[in-house]
Amino acid sequence: MVTQIEDKSNAMGKNNSMEAILGELSETRFNKIKHIPETVSTNSDLVLKASELSDGFILVSDHQTGGRGRLGRHWEAPPFKNLLFSVLLHPNWEMERHQLVTPALALSTVEVLEDFGLRASIKWPNDVMVETEGDKKIAGILSEYIQQENPVLVVGMGLNNRWPQQEDLAPPNSTSLIACGIEKDRWEVLIEILKNFEKRLVEISSEEGSATFRQSYISKSSTIGSQVKVEKSDGDIEGDAIDVREDGSLVVENKNGTTLIIEGDVIHLRKV
Ligand code: BTN
Repeated sequence: MVTQIEDKSNAMGKNNSMEAILGELSETRFNKIKHIPETVSTNSDLVLKASELSDGFILVSDHQTGGRGRLGRHWEAPPFKNLLFSVLLHPNWEMERHQLVTPALALSTVEVLEDFGLRASIKWPNDVMVETEGDKKIAGILSEYIQQENPVLVVGMGLNNRWPQQEDLAPPNSTSLIACGIEKDRWEVLIEILKNFEKRLVEISSEEGSATFRQSYISKSSTIGSQVKVEKSDGDIEGDAIDVREDGSLVVENKNGTTLIIEGDVIHLRKV
């Protein structure tokens, strides 16, 4: 299903037609893109349609009225400013590797930001950060697994393109491409991310590729090698973040031993 784009705000950029975008993505699984002006949440839309949609379906929206973040939080973005999209995937890899999809999108994004000339990294688990007067969050990812006869993954990303700027009221420690001096069309950013994502998805679909992927992820992690405080629902823990396992868990070491972290918020205290 392909929806013709009508971008009254011109936020899509003058030279982008859906044909041109799909042409750029012709060597990837992402050959169905739907663009809608507004929805509650692109993730929720794809979760609801999970049994009907084919692998690689993309939903892009100019605005979400109830964008969802990790740990039940809201994801904010004013209309037309940022890149808001979700991807539906029919995993062709073993179940143990489902959790690699989110880091795969994070890494794909970091690589694109680096190509734009930014210093980017991944803060565990999947926050995409850029270095600009300290590390600031520029993108977040929310992945959902739908267990059904043919399991489906929905991976959604919000990437701050034109909001926030310095003067805007926004979540603390957040930034945008424009605030970092990078002026880009949302669709151009999406295309580059998806091209990289395709490569990373191929990588994680084999055991050998997953090992390579893990090394690449670690090389872009700002969490590993930092002293961290992890805020978890059952209590905080402080220690040195020393590794990320193949299942995506963070290994934190302190005088009491080693703890595997599977969920929580990480605060970087200092480099070790
Ligand atoms: C986070 O960092 O907490 C994750 C944020 C994920 C936000 C994106 S925006 C597009 C997609 N739709 C949603 O409702 N959430 C994700």
